[in-house]
Amino acid sequence: MGRNVVKRLLNTTTDSIFMIDDLSIGRHPSQWLPEGYISTMSDDLEVIGKDRRLYFWKGDFRDLLFYMRQKPRYIQDKYGIEFEKFSDVFHFAAIVGGRLKIDGDPLMVALDLSIDSEFFYWITRHKPERVLYPSSSAAYPTSLQTTEGAIALSEGDIDFTKNLGTPDMTYGWTKLTGEFLAQIAAAHYGI
Ligand SMILES: NC(=O)c1ccc[n+]([C@@H]2O[C@H](COP(=O)([O-])OP(=O)(O)OC[C@H]3O[C@@H](n4cnc5c(N)ncnc54)[C@H](O)[C@@H]3O)[C@@H](O)[C@H]2O)c1
Repeated sequence: MGRNVVKRLLNTTTDSIFMIDDLSIGRHPSQWLPEGYISTMSDDLEVIGKDRRLYFWKGDFRDLLFYMRQKPRYIQDKYGIEFEKFSDVFHFAAIVGGRLKIDGDPLMVALDLSIDSEFFYWITRHKPERVLYPSSSAAYPTSLQTTEGAIALSEGDIDFTKNLGTPDMTYGWTKLTGEFLAQIAAAHYGI
């Protein structure tokens, strides 16, 4: 969902914004937007605000990615919204949950792999102008994160051309994989 980014885009641009969340953790925009003018376009899509440029699709992002994989103009055709393609795509959908979840339910966190793999495939077909994927400090080798040997980590400490080390639990593996897929999307597909 990325509600801080959404609020900022609403305030600083005149763009239309298409927001997705299954509300497993996120809250409905009516709870965090200042004015709650909402109308329902269909079961899963709402349009929000007086200028009707914020759309909220409620559901599992993987479902929408699957529909768009089957039918690239799924959104345009199903909801009658006319646009050629998304320009900027911010991918915040993930099972996060902090240390408790990372250690307590690692295979639930690993579901992020399926969100990310569908996502990175979709962008190679849709070809948005820009994509943002948030990684995590958990992607760094755990050997660099011990109490005794702690160092200030920097991006160069992840180097896909060398021995990578072991990231932090399934959350770290997911983010490391996401970074790798992002690099492939850039290098092989020009994203
Ligand atoms: N919070 C941090 O310190 C931190 C640090 C580094 C990276 N990140 C990354 O930033 C991103 C956002 O993190 P956050 O802290 O805002 O977490 P968050 O849990 O607040 O946000 C994730 C959102 O994704 C939604 N979601 C989960 N699975 C979904 C699915 N299958 N379909 C649709 N929506 C789904 C949740 O409802 C939630 O609103 C994540 O990728 C996270 O890994 C966060």
